[in-house]
Amino acid sequence: MISIEVVQAEDLALDDVLALYGAVQWTAYTRDPGNLTRALKGSSTIVAARDGLVLAGLARVISDDASICYLQDVLVLPSHQGRGIGRALVERALEPYPHVRQKVLITDDEPRQTAFYEALGYARADEFRGGAVRAFVRFD
Ligand SMILES: CC(C)(COP(=O)(O)OP(=O)(O)OC[C@H]1O[C@@H](n2cnc3c(N)ncnc32)[C@H](O)[C@@H]1OP(=O)(O)O)[C@@H](O)C(=O)NCCC(=O)NCCS
Repeated sequence: MISIEVVQAEDLALDDVLALYGAVQWTAYTRDPGNLTRALKGSSTIVAARDGLVLAGLARVISDDASICYLQDVLVLPSHQGRGIGRALVERALEPYPHVRQKVLITDDEPRQTAFYEALGYARADEFRGGAVRAFVRFD
């Protein structure tokens, strides 16, 4: 039985978080646990999926609760993927923000990520039908 719950950063054991991020090879995070801890503490909303005692997935949102809702990190243990957990995490993470119009994210240019986010109602910026938009990024 999988539980999907909004949690505080303090509710999460760092070892569990590192095991989850490590399982999907997100080494930029696992190399710097202090930075990952700050990222979790600075998140507006964190949702955790638990399979018993195992942290099976996580999603987090950064938002001003008014004009922007940025979805950062959605990840599910490989052993648990394809069972609706990713969708449940995103839906719960966005639940507090129905009044926030602009919902954005950046992800790898891979067909599976595109399929996942399109299934959740996101459109690629260059294919958005609500008007011509262009997304810009800067990585320092
Ligand atoms: C992307 C990820 C979070 C998806 O989680 P998941 O639990 O497997 O996804 P779900 O089972 O909830 O699928 C949700 C929807 O996305 C679609 N989807 C998910 N993975 C897909 C894939 N590889 N190919 C095609 N469609 C896919 C499903 O068909 C499903 O659609 P539906 O709900 O309309 O039936 C998971 O694969 C993962 O953790 N990947 C590694 C980390 C990552 O890349 N995160 C995303 C970038 S930030």
